Amino acid sequence: MELFHGNIVFSRSRDEIVQYKDSYIAVENGVVEGIYPRLPEKFAGAAVTDHGDDVIIPAFSDLHVHAPQYPQRGTAMDVLLYDWLNNYTFPLEARYAEPEFARAVYDAFVDDLILHGTMHAAVFGTIHARATGYLLERMEEKGMHALVGKVNMDMASPEYLCENVKSSLRETESFLEKYMDNRTAKPILTPRFAPTCSRDLLAGLGKIGRKYQVGVQTHLVESLWEAQEAVRLYPDCGSDTGIYEKAGLLGNGPVIGAHFIFPQEDDIRILKKYNGYAVQCPDATVNVIAGIMRTGALSDDGVKIGLGSDIAGGANLGIYSQISRSVQLSKLKKFYEPEENRSISFEQAFWMGTKQGGELFGKVGSLEPGYAFDALVIGGIADPFHVLTPVQITERFCYLGETGHIKARYLSGKRI
Ligand code: GUN
Ligand code: FE
Repeated sequence: MELFHGNIVFSRSRDEIVQYKDSYIAVENGVVEGIYPRLPEKFAGAAVTDHGDDVIIPAFSDLHVHAPQYPQRGTAMDVLLYDWLNNYTFPLEARYAEPEFARAVYDAFVDDLILHGTMHAAVFGTIHARATGYLLERMEEKGMHALVGKVNMDMASPEYLCENVKSSLRETESFLEKYMDNRTAKPILTPRFAPTCSRDLLAGLGKIGRKYQVGVQTHLVESLWEAQEAVRLYPDCGSDTGIYEKAGLLGNGPVIGAHFIFPQEDDIRILKKYNGYAVQCPDATVNVIAGIMRTGALSDDGVKIGLGSDIAGGANLGIYSQISRSVQLSKLKKFYEPEENRSISFEQAFWMGTKQGGELFGKVGSLEPGYAFDALVIGGIADPFHVLTPVQITERFCYLGETGHIKARYLSGKRI
């Protein structure tokens, strides 16, 4: 048994964030055993790590991030999705055919993810199975909870990223076989999005999904252009989400739809039917998409919502900044389209970035008993002029925090 002392903050449910001031968190085999305001007799003699006045919070979950786009972040931010992909992103992704380049970037990416306090992530690789395998292995080695996908795309893409159906499916199947039995970092099917995926490719992936009982991540109704292109290409499927249902890709495991900004009734109905996640990526939304998710209304409607950095559509790896930005964007959405949304609270946004997002990976994202002690220690952000509660310190961290305010990081109870 190990004990950690400090101020403790976590989400219990969508609307309930709790704080334990000056308390002890007991951890056994990397899992939270309990929280105690005073050190109980039964733990006399156990080692205590004292974090003083600092705030212990759960580590973050990033539900949508493109590892290969790491070198591109913060550049080409003055164009929209179609041009951004074709002129900047695709040429960069082509470079992951070179294993050495891939290794160098993925090492840096994984380290930076941890630096920013993200211990759980749903990650896109590229079409290159070998490079994407290296990324997955790195995350497994670190003990991070991850879903990592080799991307599939076989049309309307530059020649150098355009796969043929047969080899795309063959490589995907061996990718799954190789990593399915991993401990914490597992494979997931990753058709890029409807505009670059043929019917044969999606149907083939659906078969693989059923055979291996593995889930899917993609971009769903992300921009006006993409939403229109999806139903133009697949008029018989009724909606963008319907394309994946018809291909047999839903219901085999986790379902993750990034952005979900322009859903029709049918998209919402289908996503809910399969218990899928809509991922809000506030930075990417403003940078390359120019639409705002109806986060508040969708959440009220029972849609599961996680947060994503969407590197490099978004430039910031920290999910803490996506938490504050999702509050900001929900207010803008409500102001300009009052019938479309309600604004969300800090509690709700924090829950999306921790407990709700973490649920995708298992018992992570909270500090309740039974959850992995994947945690961050936040400090150096209070000031002497105004006394803040631990929850307020957490909120301030989400608005103006930097990696330097994360004083310690724990993954399954181990300090890293
Ligand atoms: N849609 C298809 N590919 C991408 C991508 O790489 N990033 C974003 N944000 N949207 C996409
Ligand atoms: Fe994306």
